[in-house]
Amino acid sequence: MGSLYERLGGSESITAVVEDFRDRVAKDSRINQKFAKTDLVRLRQMLIDQVCEATGGPCKYTGRTMKEAHAGMKVTSGEFDALVQDLVATFNHFKVGKAEQSEVLGVLGPLKPDIVEVDSNQVGTALPSTYQPAPALTH
Ligand code: HEM
Repeated sequence: MGSLYERLGGSESITAVVEDFRDRVAKDSRINQKFAKTDLVRLRQMLIDQVCEATGGPCKYTGRTMKEAHAGMKVTSGEFDALVQDLVATFNHFKVGKAEQSEVLGVLGPLKPDIVEVDSNQVGTALPSTYQPAPALTH
């Protein structure tokens, strides 16, 4: 079998998955407050590049490290788990196989300590006013 990127269906599939996931997150009151200051055009592109590169595709992720991007956001463990649940819902929507799902989740799990700052099951916590978002992409 080829790379996970190929098994997921390449660029078009990854774009469709990222857009469905973005829409689920935007509607999810457990986590959507964290995106209050975010440039969503940039976020869409960064997620596409990150997933493409991490799964062995021909892309280069040029965004901030996971530690930098989420620093000062005060994401809780409960919010991290909520985001993973939204991702699993997206995978099921596109009928991504369980083996591929576990491979992707296996890549994401180790990022948790870089993203979670608050060890709590609480969800829907506010974005601290001191949070500095990344600059918008220039088109
Ligand atoms: C494994 C889980 C996660 C991955 C792989 C991930 C990945 C990313 C990536 C690639 C970016 C773009 C960074 C950049 O623009 O330079 C980003 C930004 C962001 N992430 Fe995450 N993220 C994860 C979990 C979370 C969670 C749990 C939350 C909140 C509940 C969150 C909230 C955000 C927000 C608000 C931004 C935008 C930051 C900004 O405006 O600059 N992320 N994330």
